[in-house]
Amino acid sequence: MSATVIDGKAVAARVREEVALGVAEFVATHGYAPGLATVLVGDDPASAVYVAGKQRACAEVGINAFDHRPSAAVSGADLAALIAELNDDPAVSGVLVQLPLPDHLDGTALTGLVAAAKDVDGLTPVSAGLLALGRDGLRPCTPSGVLELLASVQAPLEGAEAVVIGRSNLFGKPMAQLLLAENATVTVCHSRTRDLAAVCVRADILIAAVGRPRMVVAEWVKPGAIVIDVGITRLESGLVGDVDFDAVRERAAAITPVPGGVGPMTIACLLRNTLLAARAQAGV
Ligand code: GUN
Repeated sequence: MSATVIDGKAVAARVREEVALGVAEFVATHGYAPGLATVLVGDDPASAVYVAGKQRACAEVGINAFDHRPSAAVSGADLAALIAELNDDPAVSGVLVQLPLPDHLDGTALTGLVAAAKDVDGLTPVSAGLLALGRDGLRPCTPSGVLELLASVQAPLEGAEAVVIGRSNLFGKPMAQLLLAENATVTVCHSRTRDLAAVCVRADILIAAVGRPRMVVAEWVKPGAIVIDVGITRLESGLVGDVDFDAVRERAAAITPVPGGVGPMTIACLLRNTLLAARAQAGV
């Protein structure tokens, strides 16, 4: 069997078109556009590329982008003051503090200062709590994007064995919560998991978010499983995921490539969250 390769670019393009239509309608109704403020601290080149992509994507769908770039030496107090200013700015619908932050700054505490209504990253304690309680709220972008990709291949989630490798606040934990809300049976694996291979091979839905190139080999994959690769590592040979794509595609029913799988979905879901935040703030 050779797996269906899930086209993240195509699914993301569809989401972005929907957002562009929603933004046009929002502007027609309210007379102003939704706005996204990005905060990039320092000059980490990978983060700069991600933020530039987010800014460009905003412009394409008609969202105003506000670009804030404090120096790498900014104090926690000054960064907190900037976040407070953005929280109070009516032109800003969403605030995104790009992670990771320099070592002297507490990323969890500082992202937690974003107003829940503007938390388009879904990273604040309020957003995480609403998700854990199964209540409406802004959801983290990459896990939301993975749900869209699973829907695009009609993956049956109810009662499915879903295994998530990775337990980060940014991805693994919210991914597990979202799958649980879809009535999957969810196992979260991490660096201390005993016999990772034995857990993975049970999975109907296997999601890897570790950052270790080609760690998930074909023997870890149940024949017919759906495999989602969230990892992305830059090697001299190019960008590589956590999954040994060439071998696993011969065993899986569907698989995401790297690049062109999960990556494009993160930005698409960020745009959607910004529109949702703007609507909620406008009372619609
Ligand atoms: N760094 C890597 N991914 C993300 C993300 O989704 N949001 C933020 N804020 N920082 C990131």
